[in-house]
Order: sequence, then C-alpha cells, then structure tokens
Amino acid sequence: MSARQSPIGVFDSGVGGLSVLRAMRELMPNESMIYFGDQGHVPYGSRSMVEIQKFSEGITKFLLEQNSKLIVVACNTASAAALKYLRGRFPELSFVGMEPAVKPAAEITKTGKVGVLATPATFQGALYASVVERFGADVELFQHTCPGLVGQIEKGELDSNATRLILEDALLPMLKKNIDTVVLGCTHYPFVIPLIEQIAGGNVRVIDPAPSVARQVKRLLEAGEKMNQTGESLRVRFYTSADTASMESLLPLLLGTDGEVEAVKWKDSQVTL
Ligand code: DGL
Repeated sequence: MSARQSPIGVFDSGVGGLSVLRAMRELMPNESMIYFGDQGHVPYGSRSMVEIQKFSEGITKFLLEQNSKLIVVACNTASAAALKYLRGRFPELSFVGMEPAVKPAAEITKTGKVGVLATPATFQGALYASVVERFGADVELFQHTCPGLVGQIEKGELDSNATRLILEDALLPMLKKNIDTVVLGCTHYPFVIPLIEQIAGGNVRVIDPAPSVARQVKRLLEAGEKMNQTGESLRVRFYTSADTASMESLLPLLLGTDGEVEAVKWKDSQVTL
C-alpha cells in the first residue's frame, strides 16, 4: 500500500473524537481512517499527565502498526497532556492536535466575554495557558469543567434532563456575565451543540473547532503529497478498548452511519488485538 492510500489514525478517550472524524470525512471523502476510542479508560479529564501520556503512546504505537500516515489527537485532554510528548517520542510522524479555540473567539466576541468548556486536565495544561496568554489578553474568559458531561455523551444522552442540568450549571452563570461566545474545548461537546444553543439562545456563538482541524489535516497531507488520489470511497475502521456494543450503538447517533467496531485489549501499556 502506498503512503497515499494509508489511513489517517484518529484517537480520543471515547466517542468525542468522532466529532472531528465527522468533519474530516466531509472534507476528505476519499481518505481511509482508523478511529480508536479508549473507552476502557474514559474519562481522561481527571487523570494525571503521566497516565494520559502512557495511554496516548500505546494508542499511537497501535495506530502506527495499522500503517497510519498521520495521527490526529482528536481529544483536547490528550493534546494538552501528551501532544508534545508524542512529538518527542515519534519525531518522524505528523501529529495534529486540538487546542481550545480562544483565538477565533477573541476575534468574534462583541461583549469581550467568552465561555470556555473543557476538562480539568485541559485547563491545567501548559497548552491552555499558552493559548490564553497569546490570544486571550483582551477578553474575559469564564471557564467550566462540566463535571459528568463526557459520561452523559458516552451514554448517548445528548438531550436528557441530566445532561441539560449539567450544561445549565455551566452556562447560566456565564450568560449572566454577558458572554456572547462559547468555546468547546472538549471534542465530546459538539454533540450537545443543539442543547447548548437552546440554553444560551440565538445571540451566543458556539465554536466547534472540528472543521478547522480537518482543514489543517488536509493541508498537511497535501504538503506531504500524502492525499489518497485513487478516488476510492472512504473506509473507516473503529476500535474500542471496551465493549464493542456501546460504540456500535452510538455510531448512528453521532456519525449518522453504522460501522463495525473491533475490540482491543490493553496489556502492559500496549494495545493488542
Ligand atoms: N474528548 C476528550 C477531550 O476532548 C474528552 C475528555 C475526557 O475523556 O475526559 O478533552
């Protein structure tokens, strides 16, 4: 298989990275992709940096064994904790990661007040501090970790009452402070945009970073002459480190399509089939 036909490897702690995969599929319909959801370890957001680095390294090795030509760290938490580490461990490999979209938010806000929703590990990481330092100087940022929201989305509860309460808890105090823009700093959260919009109302802009990450992946593949040019239609393989049934049942809801999911196991920090 030539490098052009090799798949793009994509990973997340669970099903959140599917929001990035969805945008990539729209933009690059001829690319093969491998999606890895580490549902055996979700959520990552309250874990230590070292632990997240270890998981991310094991998953990257697995995706490389499957011949991935580029790795998308479709998880803000893993990007915050491990992107730099991964680039050091795999210097030959191209990575694309996530960072909270404070820059576009600072450009579009009119009130100068922006809400940021992300996990504790993302807020604690150096990546977020650097984004705030570079782009957040002229705006007031209101942060919230939305405890329990990742778990609700992993259960497919995109508009249940419990999910609404978590989001109201995060958003209502920010709305009182007059935010007009919300940054989604966790790849699970785009799946609850309709609920966020119901709570926040029509005057608040919600920024989903997935389309711009997809464009960045495309730019890198084009620059490296690695885009698939055979015109074959796209194939996606899905892997989970938990039960296949849960991811399989969520694919139609989150991705609008069925897919076969294979189970993998963790053993001594390695992922095996
Ligand atoms: N999708 C991950 C992120 O973007 C979820 C975090 C978690 O597993 O806690 O941060």
